[in-house]
Amino acid sequence: MNALIAAAQAARLKAYAPYSKFHVGAALLDEYGKIHAGCNIENAAYPQGWCAETSAIAAMIMAGGHAIAEMAVIGSGDLLCTPCGGCRQRIREFARGDVRIHMCNEDGRVMQTFTLDELLPASFGPENLK
Ligand code: THU
Repeated sequence: MNALIAAAQAARLKAYAPYSKFHVGAALLDEYGKIHAGCNIENAAYPQGWCAETSAIAAMIMAGGHAIAEMAVIGSGDLLCTPCGGCRQRIREFARGDVRIHMCNEDGRVMQTFTLDELLPASFGPENLK
C-alpha cells in the first residue's frame, strides 16, 4: 500500500489546477500488480477539466490493465478527498464492490478507507447490460 500512496503523492505534485488550486493525485493497482497514477487537469472552460481518478484510469487502460484491485486518493487540505460521483461510476466500470479506496492526507497518511460498494451502493455496471 505504501507504493500506491507514494505514487498518488507524486502524481498530485503534477496536478494542473490553476483555477481551483486544489491539487489531487490518485493511484491504482491493476490485476497485473502494476500501479498507475494520475492528477486532476483543469481547463479555462471550467467544465472540461477532469479528476485525478479519471487520469489514473486512463493510464491503466493505456497500459493494458482492466481491473482495479486497490486505489489511493490524495487531495489538498484537512478534509477527506473522496471521489466525485462521476469518478465513482468510472471506478465502478473496472472495480468490484469490495475494492478498497484509501483517502490520504498530503503527508500520505490514510485518513479513511472505503469499499467501492460503500461509496456507490446499488450501482449500475457492465453486468447490467448482459
Ligand atoms: N478533484 C479530483 O481530482 N478528485 C476528487 O476526488 C475530487 C475533486 C478535482 C477536480 C477539480 O480539478 C478540483 O479537484 C476541485 O474540484
